[in-house]
Amino acid sequence: MRFRGQRAVLIGASAGIGLETAKRLGAEGAELVLASRSLERLEGATSGLPGVVGRHQVDATDEAAVKALFAEMAPFDHLSTFVPAAADAAMSARFGRFLEMDLATIQRVMTNRFWSHCFAARHGAPKLRPGGSIVFVSSTMPRKAIPGYAASSAAAGALESLARVLALELAPVRVNVVVPGFIASHGTDKIPESRKEQWARLVSAQGVKRLGEVGEIADAILFLMSNAYATGALLTVDGGYTLT
Ligand SMILES: NC(=O)c1ccc[n+]([C@@H]2O[C@H](COP(=O)([O-])OP(=O)(O)OC[C@H]3O[C@@H](n4cnc5c(N)ncnc54)[C@H](OP(=O)(O)O)[C@@H]3O)[C@@H](O)[C@H]2O)c1
Repeated sequence: MRFRGQRAVLIGASAGIGLETAKRLGAEGAELVLASRSLERLEGATSGLPGVVGRHQVDATDEAAVKALFAEMAPFDHLSTFVPAAADAAMSARFGRFLEMDLATIQRVMTNRFWSHCFAARHGAPKLRPGGSIVFVSSTMPRKAIPGYAASSAAAGALESLARVLALELAPVRVNVVVPGFIASHGTDKIPESRKEQWARLVSAQGVKRLGEVGEIADAILFLMSNAYATGALLTVDGGYTLT
């Protein structure tokens, strides 16, 4: 019960890594304020989950909506945002090599994968209690380039740079980053078949020759939230992918 008496705000908690993080935090005593675009989906995924004290509909890419969400919120201890680069299969299919990708898609990826996380940090940070934390979820891409992922790589790199500065500026609030490898989630079900084949090739070269599980990333997030000495840290949980 590491999180008894603490409150966590999770944006994008109705599926994937966010939902698993909510389940594990709730099981360890945390109070949970959860949000995603579809309140119905969020309620369906989290009904009966221990610790839930609030559920909100928010599009995290809309700064005014994020600001309004936090304006009414009581102080809390931990914040994490789980908006992925591609919101749906149609957008995922538009990913491609840099010169072939339309600029609107690149900008949309930056909005989803960087700006929504940045909006949450900006408007959520003033409500974080001292000793509380923000955990950003990045990816291996800023350190290991893959053709076809220019926009999401740039967005994740921006998120990591932001985290390092915030770890200094927001102290005693702690700011850390989890770096997942290739994780089987609701989101990754939506990627095109060609990309799934590319993932299978990359995963077969890893030390741990399988996709990661959402719980393995949620565990890392809980570790960074609970470890009072961890700030400015980058915790890689990627099955050894970045070593290949
Ligand atoms: N899966 C991987 O392999 C992997 C690897 C590295 C990093 N990551 C990162 O880890 C995070 C979680 O990924 P995931 O695979 O678990 O994603 P996921 O299964 O697609 O779940 C995404 C969650 O975010 C919510 N969401 C999407 N757009 C939103 C928006 N604009 N505003 C508010 N909520 C929104 C979704 O609910 P609604 O649709 O109801 O809004 C859902 O609850 C993402 O930032 C992703 O980039 C994932």
